[in-house]
Formats: sequence, C-alpha cells, structure tokens
Amino acid sequence: MNIPILKKILQRLFKFYVKKHFSKILIALFLSFGVAGGTAAIAWLLDPAVKKIFVEQDRTMMFLIPLAIVAAFSIKGLSLYFARTILIKLANEVVRVMQIELSSCVLKSDVHTVESKHSGKYISHFLYDISLVSQLVSSGVLNIMKDSLTLIVLVALMFYQNWKLASFAMIMMPLAAIVAKSLGRRLGKVTTQSAKVVGNLTAFLSEMIKGLRMIKIYQQENFEFDRSKKIMEEHMNKQNKIGFVTIRATPIMEVLTGIIIAGFIYWTGIMVAAGEMQINNFFSFLTAMMLAYQPIRSLATINMLFYQGAAGAERVFTVIDTEAKIKDNNSSNNLNIKEGNVEFKNVDFSYPKTEIPAIKNVNIFIEGGTTAALVGHSGAGKSTIINLLPRFYDPSNGNIFIDKQNIKDVSLFSLRKNISLVSQDIILFDDTVRANIAYANMEATNDQIQKACEFAAASEFIEKLPQSYETLIGENGIRLSGGQKQRISIARAILKDTPIILLDEATSSLDAESEEKVQNAILNLTKNKTTLVIAHRLSTIIRANKIIIVNQGKIVETGTHNDLLKNSNIYKNLYSKQISTN
Ligand SMILES: Nc1ncnc2c1ncn2[C@@H]1O[C@H](COP(=O)(O)OP(=O)(O)OP(=O)(O)O)[C@@H](O)[C@H]1O
Ligand SMILES: [Mg+2]
Repeated sequence: MNIPILKKILQRLFKFYVKKHFSKILIALFLSFGVAGGTAAIAWLLDPAVKKIFVEQDRTMMFLIPLAIVAAFSIKGLSLYFARTILIKLANEVVRVMQIELSSCVLKSDVHTVESKHSGKYISHFLYDISLVSQLVSSGVLNIMKDSLTLIVLVALMFYQNWKLASFAMIMMPLAAIVAKSLGRRLGKVTTQSAKVVGNLTAFLSEMIKGLRMIKIYQQENFEFDRSKKIMEEHMNKQNKIGFVTIRATPIMEVLTGIIIAGFIYWTGIMVAAGEMQINNFFSFLTAMMLAYQPIRSLATINMLFYQGAAGAERVFTVIDTEAKIKDNNSSNNLNIKEGNVEFKNVDFSYPKTEIPAIKNVNIFIEGGTTAALVGHSGAGKSTIINLLPRFYDPSNGNIFIDKQNIKDVSLFSLRKNISLVSQDIILFDDTVRANIAYANMEATNDQIQKACEFAAASEFIEKLPQSYETLIGENGIRLSGGQKQRISIARAILKDTPIILLDEATSSLDAESEEKVQNAILNLTKNKTTLVIAHRLSTIIRANKIIIVNQGKIVETGTHNDLLKNSNIYKNLYSKQISTN
C-alpha cells in the first residue's frame, strides 16, 4: 500500500467513523498530557532528589520528594488508564458501526456479488479485518498522542538539563524514523497476505464442518486433515512473519540506544570532570533518556498499526463500496396486481463471467391464476428463468411484466412481497419450526401458522416433534427429513399467501405416501395463484394449464399435455421416460 492510498483510507476512517467522537479523543489527548507530564515529572524529580536529599541532606525534602514521586506515578498511571478506557470504548464502537454497515451492505448486495466469494471470506472481513481497524483506533490513536507528547516533554527536560548532551541524543530520532518507515510498509504487505490466509482458513473450516458427512463417506478424513494442516501451517507462517516484522524494530532500537547511552556516559564523564555538569543533572538526564526509549520505540512501530489497520479497512471498504446493481430506480411505484398475468418478452440472460447465454429469447405468457410448468433437461435454464422474476438477476435483454408493469420499474419491495419461492434446495434457519414458518409473515397468529401447516400437510408430523412447533430444527433443518423440510418450506410459502408462486420442484423422490402429501400441499399452495413451476413429477406436469419445454436456454414448445403429446417429439420422449420411471 502506498502513502496516498494509506492517507485516503485513514481520512475516510476518520471522517466517517471517528470524527463524531472527536470530543472523546480530545479528552484522551488531555489525559495524554497527564501521562507525559507524569513521566517527565518522574525524571525531573531525580534532580532535586539527588541534590537535596543526597548532597544537601535536606530533612523536609527527604519526606516531600518521595511523596511527589508517588504523585507523579499516580498521575501517569491514572491518566493512562482513563485514556485507554476511552479509546477501547471508541474502538469497539467503531467496530460495531463498521460491522453493522458491512452486514447491511451484504444484505443489500446483489445475489451474484455475494455468491461470487466464499462465505468464509466474508466472515473474515467481519472478524479479522475489522479487528485490525480496532487496534488502529485503540492503540494507534492513543499511542500517537501520549507517546509523542511524552517524548516532547522528555526531550525538553533533556535540553533543560544539558543542551549539548541533548543535541547528541537527538541523532537517534532520524535513525528510528528510517527504521519505522521501512518496517511499516513491509508489515502492511504481510498483513494483507495474512488476511487472505485467514479468509481461506474460515472458508476451509466452514466447509469441513458442513461437509462432514461427505468427508466420512468418501473417507477423506486424512485428505482433509492434511489440507487443514497445510492451511494452518500457512496461517502460522504468516503470523510468524507479522510477529517477526513487528519485533524487528526491537534489536535495532536496542543497539541504537546502547550506542547512545555509551557515548553519553563517556561524554558526561568528561563534562563532570571539567565541572560543566552536576551529578544531579546527570541522573535526571539519564532517567529522561531511558524513559524516552519507550515512546520512541512505540512511535517507531506505530505506523505498522496504521498500515495494518488501513489494510483491513481497505478490504472492508471494498465490500461496502460494491454497489448493488439490482435496486429500485428513482421513480419506483408499487407493483399493483389485479389478474396476476406474468409475461417474459424476448428475455436473454447470461451469468456474469460466462460466454454462452444461459437463456435466449425467452417468451412466456402465464395467465393470472393458472399454472405453467417448465420442463426440460438438467442445465436447460429452468431455474434461471425462475430466478429472473424476483430479480435475483436482471435480464441482459428483454423485459418481464406482471400485469403489464415492467418489474424493473416497480419497487423491489412490492415485487418480492407478491412472490413466494419454494426452491430446489430448501433453506431453513437454525430456529424453531414456528419461527421458520413465521419467517414469511412475522405478524402471523398461531392460528394462521397452524392452518398453513395443515394446508401443507405438515401439521401431523410437526405435532409429533418433541416440542411440537417449538422444536429447534438445527442448521438448515438438519433434524428433519427431506420431505418434512419440503413441507415446512411449502407451509412458509402458504403463509406468505402471494398471488405469484415460484416452485422449483425438488427432484429427490419421496415414498408414495409422502409424495402424495407433498403433492397435495403443492396443490393447496398454488390454487388460484399464478404459478411457475419447474416440474419433475409427471403429476405436476399433467396438472399444469400450460407446459413450456426448455432446451439449451430456449423455449422449444409450448402447449397443454394433450397438445404436446400429439405434436411434440421432445415431449413424447420426456413423457415416456417419466412413465417408465414412475
Ligand atoms: N450462478 C451461476 N453462474 C454461472 N452459471 C450458472 C449459474 N447458475 C447456473 N448456471 C448455468 O446456467 C445454465 C442453466 O442452469 P439452470 O440452473 O437454470 O438449469 P436448470 O434447468 O434449472 O437445471 P436443473 O434441472 O438441473 O436444476 C447451466 O448451464 C448452468 O451451468
Ligand atoms: Mg434448477
């Protein structure tokens, strides 16, 4: 990361996250004066301590100076404590605000944007990258204030005690600055690599845990274990690198300090012998110089904190700055449904980063309240067609209308409010049965939920669950059977009660009885609704008012079951295969 970018990121961090807490930073700055003053007082007090107590043997001072030393330490300690408290709180507040902003961005993002990156990487933005920013705000900001103030005051004291020696000690400063600059940039780079590794690690862990059954059945425990060892080793290496770069400043600084102190003692020897310096000045000066070591070291490494924090912030900002393409246009009206006619007009669509269009020149008209079945081979483009209606994606060409209103011109909220989706891969949350169903309508009464479950042929099995509607179903409904999950997702769609239903029929076959139950549930769901169903079951296909055959992204035939049986070879072919499997 180069300096202009670093500057830009820091400015943005300050402007949007820190500026509004500026009063707190001012208080911390004020407390930093306490830290600096306390530290300098400790060094300065050695001057009268030596002079009054040891040389002049002043009785009162023997009592007062130790008290003053306790006071100086207390001021330093308390100021530091309160300043840290303020900045820890501030940093955690910044973390909270950034995390909220990040989650809001993820929720508003296009499906494509979020799905193009592994979920584990997003998690590492939330946890790792933001923690780097937090360190920048808490340690970085405080250290820069308290350490530079302390250093200034100590240097002033050194000049006060003996300007010649102080000038000599100043050689250290530019050297420290040079060391700092190169290390900071290096650390920024290593941190960026490390963030990548942490992202890979979270991604790997989430897959390992989710895929445990597949790992076991394919007996790939060793393979996965080796993989985990590799990733963890890489993680360790990067962390080592960060650690090494961070502490690389230490030996350099130690050596520098050693040289300076040695030169200093040599020179004072000469000065004291020549009567140019008192012993009390010597002690005070030496203490000030020793105490200056810590802030110099901290300031020499502080830019690392800034580079690291900025690198983390940059990755978070990249996510925040990715604008959603699918959003309301300025004049979005609410979708107004009367008949519920759905029409696709000359619709083309290609997935991002693909060459061949997934669907081409699709024209569909579904009369309100009727069911159209999409039929075709796997990969033909059926799910793609369905995903265009709730605008998970926008067509590359052509338009989609609901009751003559272009879905691009109505508000996204009103569009999706009118559509239910039962997808091929059912998504359930780790919550109770009730909560999963009520997800469609948070205000639904128990009665409504129960009725929806009866319609979906789900109430009988739900009532047999250990805590009935209050049973926790586990991550993605792991504690339910396939058919049960389907029926819950159908109940959820029934509860939403929308004029338009999208149904991506699950291909998994159920036993005859469950099959019939799910079929009945679907019938209840789609009664008098405009339904676009991707049909795999013959019974669904035959019942549809219109059958649309999709082949390689194009619609090749449309008609009723009887029409198609008479006229379409493709359909006859599909039909006979279905007959033989059923
Ligand atoms: N997110 C995606 N990114 C890129 N290409 C995709 C994506 N999803 C689907 N495709 C491609 O688009 C084509 C159509 O896929 P689609 O999911 O619509 O098929 P389908 O007819 O629903 O098949 P199935 O019956 O197996 O579910 C396929 O060739 C597939 O590889
Ligand atoms: Mg599909």
